[in-house]
Amino acid sequence: MTDDQTVYLNGEFMPLAEARVPVLDRGFIFGDGVYEVVPVYGRVPFRWTQHHARLERSLGKLRIDDPMDAAGWRGLVDALIARHPWDDQFVYIQVTRGVAKRDHAFPKGITPTVFAMSSPLPVLPAEQITEGLAVITLPDERWLHCDVKSTSLLGNVLARQAAVDAGAAECVMFRGDRLTECSSSNFWVVRDGGVLAPPKDNLILEGIRYGLMQELCEAEGLPFSVREITRDEVLTADELMLSSATKEVLPVTRLDGRPVGDGRPGPVFRRLHAAYQRAKAASAAGAGLAVH
Ligand code: PDD
Repeated sequence: MTDDQTVYLNGEFMPLAEARVPVLDRGFIFGDGVYEVVPVYGRVPFRWTQHHARLERSLGKLRIDDPMDAAGWRGLVDALIARHPWDDQFVYIQVTRGVAKRDHAFPKGITPTVFAMSSPLPVLPAEQITEGLAVITLPDERWLHCDVKSTSLLGNVLARQAAVDAGAAECVMFRGDRLTECSSSNFWVVRDGGVLAPPKDNLILEGIRYGLMQELCEAEGLPFSVREITRDEVLTADELMLSSATKEVLPVTRLDGRPVGDGRPGPVFRRLHAAYQRAKAASAAGAGLAVH
């Protein structure tokens, strides 16, 4: 993040340092907005169609008018990518309900605030891939609309900080006995050579990597099922993994300080990681799996 990078705010491109939002923006006052994080490989947004569809779903669930049509969004993302020198980037998009006198109920006739920026995509440290991540378990104390990619992220922020305070990279959360997800990633359980994922309901954000992981498992001939997963199934898993736009897929090798399986990234992770790299390369080359 550099102050001279170009960002988009309400129809204009401008240096980051000049971008300003009124303090009565409902994103600032109430966290009343939605966002997307889209990875870009070789200047091509990866799984853009799915990210755009999720943005539309999030806006629809909060009853915020979609400020742009599909071509408008794609044009904005392409323009931001073109304004920056990096081949691999990640685009952040945020839409809030807009600026109005403070009142909890939706104000009438206001225009959504649209902000977007692109940053260089951080290269994942090699040891995260070769050694894996330490993760802690936590109760899921968030609200019941985790399927909305909302900027109201206090539950996620507090959970991530608890992980950092414990010296871990992430936390994995449970509602009672049921696995949900991590503070900013989805969580995958490997048992008996197959990949398990929690149901895509209101208790988790359906990551764009959900569909991708399913495609990669199918291509690799790995059994894949979406179903409720218990804490015990997580604690006794052969392998654990997490995924997000910026983390791709990473192995979790320590859970609450104990080794997962033999404590090393496992064979299912290695296959999915290799398949993920091929999907990225195919997208960047404009062909093959995961091109949209
Ligand atoms: N987070 N679950 C939560 C709560 C998330 O915040 C994210 C992504 C995911 C994974 O979704 P996807 O595969 O579409 O990235 C799951 C982004 C990266 C963020 O907040 O920065």
